[in-house]
Amino acid sequence: MLPQELPIAFFDSGLGGISVLRETVRLLPQERYLYYGDSLHAPYGVKTADEVLALCRTAVCHLLEQGVKALVIACNTATSVAIRPLRQAYPGLIIIGTEPAIKPAAERFPGGHILVMATPMTLQEKKFRSLQQQYGAQAEIVPVACGGLMEFVEQGILRGEAVERYLYDKLEPYLKVPIDAVVLGCTHYPFLSGAIRKVVGRRPAIMDGSAGIAMQLRRKLAERGLLAPDAQTGSVRFENSLDEPEILELSQALFDYQDATP
Ligand code: DGL
Repeated sequence: MLPQELPIAFFDSGLGGISVLRETVRLLPQERYLYYGDSLHAPYGVKTADEVLALCRTAVCHLLEQGVKALVIACNTATSVAIRPLRQAYPGLIIIGTEPAIKPAAERFPGGHILVMATPMTLQEKKFRSLQQQYGAQAEIVPVACGGLMEFVEQGILRGEAVERYLYDKLEPYLKVPIDAVVLGCTHYPFLSGAIRKVVGRRPAIMDGSAGIAMQLRRKLAERGLLAPDAQTGSVRFENSLDEPEILELSQALFDYQDATP
């Protein structure tokens, strides 16, 4: 197989990174994709940084053994602790990470009021703190730690009373002032954008970083002459650390899911 024909690996603590995968397939439909979700060990966002780093190393080793031309860490939590060590361990490999879309939100709403929903770990780590510092003069950036939220997506619960109650309890205290944007700083949350919209109302923009990640990946592959040939037929393959056929069915269902009210 020629290097440009190799698959692109996607990795997340579970099924959330499928939101980034969907966006990437729209931009680069002729690529081959291998998606690995570590649902057995999810959630990552409430573990220690050392635990998450060890899990990331194991998952990435497994993916690289299969021969891939690029790696997308489609997980804000994993990126915040593992991207640097992984880039050091694999200096020749294209490695793209994810971060909360604070920059585009602050640029779009100067002086605005921006909520950032993410896992407790993402909000504790240096990456988030430096983004908050960098854009904090441009807009008010309010972190909202959402431990327990990704679990709904892992169970395929994307709407309904339980998730809406969770979101209402979590977000309601911040809705006393007008909100301009809600940044989804965890790749699981775009699957809940319909439920989030119901709680925050029509005004705020709901923003995630998937489109930017897809474009960054295309740019990096193009720079190295690694884009798949136009004639290649694209494909997506799901793998999961949880050894259950249902998790692969849910992966495919999330990949195909279109939220009616984003
Ligand atoms: N999807 C992951 C993220 O983007 C995190 C979920 C978790 O494992 O806590 O942060």
